[in-house]
Formats: sequence, structure tokens, C-alpha cells
Amino acid sequence: MAKRLLIVIDGPAGAGKTSVSRRLADRLGYIYVDTGALYRAVAVRAEDLGIRSDDDTALKQLLDGLTIRYEMRYDGPHVLAGDVDVTVRIREPKITMLASAISARPVVREFLLGLQRQLGREKAAVFEGRDMGTVVFPDADVKFFLIADIHERARRRFQELPPAPGMTVEAVEQDMIRRDRNDSTREAAPLKPAADAVRIDSTELSIEGVVEKMMTVVRDKMEN
Ligand code: DC
Repeated sequence: MAKRLLIVIDGPAGAGKTSVSRRLADRLGYIYVDTGALYRAVAVRAEDLGIRSDDDTALKQLLDGLTIRYEMRYDGPHVLAGDVDVTVRIREPKITMLASAISARPVVREFLLGLQRQLGREKAAVFEGRDMGTVVFPDADVKFFLIADIHERARRRFQELPPAPGMTVEAVEQDMIRRDRNDSTREAAPLKPAADAVRIDSTELSIEGVVEKMMTVVRDKMEN
């Protein structure tokens, strides 16, 4: 029987992690876990309660009474905060920035650590995030670090976003630069490649091209 591997993909926003992770998980019959969605779900609750991203006491209080669930459904993964399905709301631009800000708080990272490890306990999974290979699953079977040129990342993200007044590819790029800076300079679990991660630059590759490269590494791991 094929080995059940735990595969992790880290990298900055817009490098193609989501499309690639989903496709890779499909190819392998594995579950796919978008850990950014968990940070975003906490951000939605913080936003609703008017909690500032640097107010650790209020964040702790919120987290003490909060259950986040990540469920695989026929139409893709859903994330629930308490009993509320926040799958759509987590993609709002203001939630995107707030998620980046609260993800710098150790109190939030500790809260989500156990949940992520729980989701990965049976392996046969592809996890995407920022600190999968460094902090959450340092013993993952296969680690990838996906990067791409900033202009290309902004162009891709711009194409995915619903049209909005005043939204330009330049504005998306500026937001992305700010978010990259937040995510890679924070003290708690900053975005960085694990020493044993395989780096892939997706700037000039299609989704399928990236997945093919990954499958070569995964097959090798299954056979050895
Ligand atoms: O992958 P994403 O854009 O949905 O992630 C939203 C934010 O959550 C991102 O700015 C950084 C944070 N994040 C994190 O700190 N660690 C993770 N494993 C995943 C996301």
C-alpha cells in the first residue's frame, strides 16, 4: 500500500500555494488543509468584536471561548468559527490584513498549533501555510517552499479578486509587500524556508508544471 505522507507547502502570498496544494492533494487522494483560513477565521471574530490586533488580553479572552473547525465538504473546505460558517467572509480584504496582523501574536499561534497538529494526525494530507515545515510539522515527510516574483504574484492575485472600485494591480502589489514584510519579520514563527525544504520558483511555471515537479519528489519519497 502507498505510504501516507504528510506534505507541507510554505511560501509568501500569491506564490500559488493554494492551487498547487489542492491539485497535489487531489492527485494523491489526500486531504488539503489551508492553515491561512484558520488565522482568517480568528480575524473575523476579532473584527466582529472590535478587538485590536495587538490587544493580547482581549485576543486571549476571545480564544478561550472559541472553537474553530475545518471541514472537508463536497464543494471544498469550510471553516467555522463557533457555529458560524465564515468560509466566504475570510476572503474580505480587511480580513486579509487583520489575519496577517493577528498571526504575529504568539497567543493566536499557540491556539492554532494544537488544531493544526490534530488535523494532521492521520497524515495523507497536504498542508499549506507559512510555518508548516519550520514549526507546526518539523518532521513532515516532504517539505516544499514555493516562491514567485512579486509582480507575478500580484498579477495572479489581482485576477482572482472580484472587481472593486479603485482596486489596481499596483495596490494589490503594495498590500502584498506589506503582508510579506509582516509575515517574514515577525518574531513568532516567521515565514522562512525549513532547512530541508525543496524550493520551487513558480514564476514561469503553470500550476500543473509545479505539481509535476512536486510529484517527482513525492514519488521518490514513497519509494524510499
Ligand atoms: O495564506 P493566507 O494568505 O490565507 O494567510 C493569511 C495570513 O495568515 C497570512 O498573512 C499569514 C498568516 N498565516 C500564518 O501566519 N501562518 C500560517 N501557517 C498560515 C497563515
